[in-house]
Amino acid sequence: MAIIAIIGGTGLTNMPGLTIERRQMVKTIYGAPSSPLIHGQLNGKEVIFLARHGRRHTIPPHMINYRANLMALHEVGVTHVIALASVGGIADDCEDKKIVIPDQIIDYTNGRAHTFHGAKDDTFEHIDFTEPYSASVREKLIEGCKAAKVPFVADGVYGATQGPRLETAAEIRRMENDGCTIVGMTGMPEASLARELGMEYGCCAMVVNRAAGKGVNGINFSEVEKNIGESVGNVQRVLAETLSGGVAH
Ligand code: HPA
Repeated sequence: MAIIAIIGGTGLTNMPGLTIERRQMVKTIYGAPSSPLIHGQLNGKEVIFLARHGRRHTIPPHMINYRANLMALHEVGVTHVIALASVGGIADDCEDKKIVIPDQIIDYTNGRAHTFHGAKDDTFEHIDFTEPYSASVREKLIEGCKAAKVPFVADGVYGATQGPRLETAAEIRRMENDGCTIVGMTGMPEASLARELGMEYGCCAMVVNRAAGKGVNGINFSEVEKNIGESVGNVQRVLAETLSGGVAH
């Protein structure tokens, strides 16, 4: 049976519309996850919700215990993960408030605990990461976007940066040359850790600002807040449609 988790990001520390049944504190050998696991129902579907930055949004991207988060979900039996993320738009079609379902990743992070392997005497396996996101979760998210009738882009390259500072204009130009279409700070190592644990993982990104050097007036944080607020409803509708389409089928 599929057990679905939603990892909520900036602007989605609480999941509007989620009926909470119970909160579960989990401790893994990597420590505690960012927040208790919230078991509940979203549009009548059982889901487990995890607030990536903590319940009060206090954990910056580089301090998130990604291993504990993914291991906690794995230990309670999660098979499918929908990762929600706020991102900057690099490509022209990744405008503010669009939803993007990326199909590729470039990892620019550094120094993060990025694998479950490496313990003494551990036998390790390489993972195939050619396609970093689950094809089936992506397909369901795309169907969800269509059904929800929200403006969206059906593919994209997520450039994962270290944060918590935003990028320089030159860094964004370099990322654009590399092929990145969106930029965020939490996409890695979340995606590869999910793969190491054999979980199907897809990302639903909402564009909340033009990336550095791409907008007309620089990055305006009150504008970012406004875009987040105005996108939450769209993300919620996409999730409702995605879940009613049956993520695991
Ligand atoms: N850069 C990195 N991460 C982000 C951005 C950005 O412009 N916007 C939202 N998350």
